Amino acid sequence: MHKYEKIWMTLGSASLAIFLAILGISSVHAGHTPAASGIETINPDFVESDSRFGNPGLYESDSGDYDYDLYFTASAFMYEPREVEIPKGSRVRIQAATKDVIHGFSVAGTNVNMMVEPGLVSTYTANFNKTGEFLIICNEYCGVGHADMISMIKVVD
Ligand code: CUA
Repeated sequence: MHKYEKIWMTLGSASLAIFLAILGISSVHAGHTPAASGIETINPDFVESDSRFGNPGLYESDSGDYDYDLYFTASAFMYEPREVEIPKGSRVRIQAATKDVIHGFSVAGTNVNMMVEPGLVSTYTANFNKTGEFLIICNEYCGVGHADMISMIKVVD
């Protein structure tokens, strides 16, 4: 009897350990999306010395695929630039990089919605065909100033 109890105890804790290991592995996978190949990396400590993110804003592009490059930096708790004007009808490639923690980058009333993770350059290309003011909001909780973390895109004629 004693012997069987021991066996069951051992089996029980072994399966518990395996179960926990599986949980641990799957939560690691769910919590972090691995960078797909082709995603550009950037050292968060040197975002400001990058030629694009050192002077964020709207720049005409030579690319045939879009009209403007728009660079944003994100940091607790603001985006730079604080406000940007885009000519109506433009196709814009937005790139964003964070100087500290994970932030969100969501443009209200548009499809633009991305996560800005330390170490990665986030890219989203969108058409701005409607005039108006579009609020950029952070949709990843990043600390006490999270709710105040906003910027503005003005699409003008
Ligand atoms: Cu930045 Cu929330």
